[in-house]
Amino acid sequence: MCLMGGLGLVLLLGTGARGVLEGEITSGELLKLILLLGFFYEPVARLHGVNQTLVSGLAGAARVFEVLDAEGAEAGRLDSPPHAARGEIRFKNVTFGYDEGMPVIHGISLHVPAGQTCAIVGVSGCGKSTLFDLLAGFYRPWSGVIEMDGVSLAGRDLAALRARTAYVMQDAFLFSGTLRANLLLARPDAGDAELWAALREARAEDFVKARPDGLDTEVGERGVLLSGGERQRLALARAFLKDAPVLLLDEATSAVDAESERHIQEALERLCESRTCMVIAHRLSTVARADVIHVMSAGRVIASGSHAELLEGCPHYRHLASLSFL
Ligand SMILES: Nc1ncnc2c1ncn2[C@@H]1O[C@H](COP(=O)(O)OP(=O)(O)OP(=O)(O)O)[C@@H](O)[C@H]1O
Ligand SMILES: [Mg+2]
Repeated sequence: MCLMGGLGLVLLLGTGARGVLEGEITSGELLKLILLLGFFYEPVARLHGVNQTLVSGLAGAARVFEVLDAEGAEAGRLDSPPHAARGEIRFKNVTFGYDEGMPVIHGISLHVPAGQTCAIVGVSGCGKSTLFDLLAGFYRPWSGVIEMDGVSLAGRDLAALRARTAYVMQDAFLFSGTLRANLLLARPDAGDAELWAALREARAEDFVKARPDGLDTEVGERGVLLSGGERQRLALARAFLKDAPVLLLDEATSAVDAESERHIQEALERLCESRTCMVIAHRLSTVARADVIHVMSAGRVIASGSHAELLEGCPHYRHLASLSFL
């Protein structure tokens, strides 16, 4: 559209200047034409913009309906109640990719015994978050099986699976609305006393209390009115509220100040007690708490062991550790 506008102006100037020289129009008339050209292009450019918004909006809507339809197709299967779950996780030769013929996860096999904490480390883009998205049921593996407590996810009611799993994502997602509304997403029937208890556990009580509106504080679009550390602690508070037997924690890479960092680490320690945890770790303090560390590279688990074992026997891990796990 810019190119068309530019070409139009050049054309008008070219023919207009000749017209002025040959005495067909006056320079004032040429100036008027140039001004009118501006009036003409703006609405056309806007129409073009509307078309682009419409196309991307339709693509988004199609994706939303895909997700809604998938949920419907899975619903209705009976499953044992979430509190009976132990939280044992097993990946058996799982392969998956977003685009046909381009796998991102290559035949991963992994076992996380119930109640254990395992850390996943690897460079950006090696497939760590994708592994979690598969476990949370956002995508289906191309091949292989993912099991929770010995039952394949493919045979599970998605709602039952989500009741068992608390997923704290890399970029803690908050909706525009109040703190209360954001917390209630994790457990809609929770009362204020339970919300405050979860905030206390997540070391988020003080900053909420410090705001005049408390739980009614507006968080803004995607939580922009809160700091990165506050958003992360709210996400942890949601996980405390949910109290699910499996915790998936995609540790945020964003830097927070040392004080927030200490609070977050304390909250994490409490959250990982008494449940199965898989943590995508970017910090040595998180790795140090894990029972076992799995090293991922280009969609594969290339080594597993303790921090000391991996420092000794896995050069890739040594490299990651020297970069503070990226
Ligand atoms: N929704 C998606 N559609 C298409 N490709 C994707 C999508 N999500 C991730 N990918 C691609 O899959 C690969 C693995 O991405 P993933 O997000 O799992 O990496 P990661 O290990 O979590 O990286 P990071 O440490 O940066 O979070 C990357 O090449 C990424 O570009
Ligand atoms: Mg990631």
